[in-house]
Amino acid sequence: MTLRRVNVVILILLAVAFLIIVQRNLLNLSDFLHKESPDAGMVLPFEAELSLDQVQDMERKGEEIPVLITATEDRLGAVIAAMNSVYQNSKANVVFTIVTMNDTTDHLRMWLSQTKLKNVKHKVIIFNQELLSGKIPKDLKTTETSKPLAFARFYLPLFIPEAEKAIYLDDDIIVQGDIQELFEANLKPGHAAAFSEDCDSASSKGIVRGAGNQNNYIGFLDFKKESIKKLGMRANTCSFNPGVIIANLTEWRNQNITQQLEHWMERNTQEDLYSKTLAESVTTPPLLIVFYKRHSSIDPLWHVRHLGTTGAGNRYSPQFVKAAKLLHWNGHYKPWGRASSFSDVWDKWFIPDPTGKFHPVRRHSD
Ligand SMILES: *[C@@H]1O[C@H](CO)[C@@H](O)[C@H](O)[C@H]1NC(C)=O
Ligand SMILES: *[C@@H]1O[C@H](CO)[C@@H](O)[C@H](O)[C@H]1NC(C)=O
Ligand SMILES: *[C@@H]1O[C@H](CO)[C@@H](O)[C@H](O)[C@H]1NC(C)=O
Ligand SMILES: *[C@@H]1O[C@H](CO)[C@@H](O)[C@H](O)[C@H]1NC(C)=O
Repeated sequence: MTLRRVNVVILILLAVAFLIIVQRNLLNLSDFLHKESPDAGMVLPFEAELSLDQVQDMERKGEEIPVLITATEDRLGAVIAAMNSVYQNSKANVVFTIVTMNDTTDHLRMWLSQTKLKNVKHKVIIFNQELLSGKIPKDLKTTETSKPLAFARFYLPLFIPEAEKAIYLDDDIIVQGDIQELFEANLKPGHAAAFSEDCDSASSKGIVRGAGNQNNYIGFLDFKKESIKKLGMRANTCSFNPGVIIANLTEWRNQNITQQLEHWMERNTQEDLYSKTLAESVTTPPLLIVFYKRHSSIDPLWHVRHLGTTGAGNRYSPQFVKAAKLLHWNGHYKPWGRASSFSDVWDKWFIPDPTGKFHPVRRHSD
């Protein structure tokens, strides 16, 4: 009698355990399917009527994740691929603020409205170049790095006035992780921004010999100049890359970060404070000054960079590139150009231009 009762109890326990395991596996399976590339248009077993594209198209609710990105006419395909990668890899309520020039808006609107990005929430803002008058040297205006839109990141609270927290992304990036994860990264109390350090192991792997000493402050700022000396900053401090920024806009406003950045831009036009060897990003030096020892760090996997530096991208293994949450093709070799590494990764997120104006340069197609 008691033996039989024990057997029944054991049987029931086994059945419960079995059900738990089955349920967990099913949940994991559905989880997995949700995470698979949404491009496939495959049908979900538990939402049989909805293709993944339709799931992506459903209205996204919940906390807004404001993302600022700039759109430059001659590389408009970049912002499209970047936005697509952010959007497809997250279910979060992402709202893009796209800062662009007046003569780009029609092209951009067409690209967004006639493709699968048509439901992506976004605002288009025309950059007022007057903001920069007297703040960038005139002779620099023509060079790639001092294109006015590069400075849009200095004006985050101006462009996203309603948000407390926001993300800034360069256009030459692809996001492979869920942007929500980046957004939820904590900033230390009193910090207005988080950046990715140039000395972290993941990205220093990519730094090429001969590309200059651009992983510390002396690579960006002229430490012989009196006004730089006066700041008392250590020249060998690790620099950071402002291609990805998480910002606490409340702190940004309270600390007058924009005004401080403008101050150093103006000082530079008069005193030439930036390093003579400054290869890219004239936006970096003022940020280095203003955020010296006053910024938080971004997880290195959320800003894997130097994919656009000569041959540097090739130093990364395909496995590492696959595991990266965010890829950045900073440097001269862009993934829509001819000679970049890992352009196949970028191609997955690119959406052809309905107007036909923009073409990635590919060996087989030209
Ligand atoms: C389900 O997935 C989680 C993480 O995604 C993992 O820790 C867990 O072991 C998985 N469970 C089963 C039964 O595979
Ligand atoms: C943008 O361009 C259009 C047409 O060229 C012009 O009418 C409009 O005033 C411009 N807007 C701004 C903000 O420059
Ligand atoms: C931003 O900073 C303010 C002021 O320090 C703080 O109260 C707030 O919690 C921070 N917000 C976020 C989202 O971190
Ligand atoms: C920011 O600017 C305002 C107005 O110019 C000023 O009153 C305030 O003291 C400044 N705050 C900081 C932290 O510099």
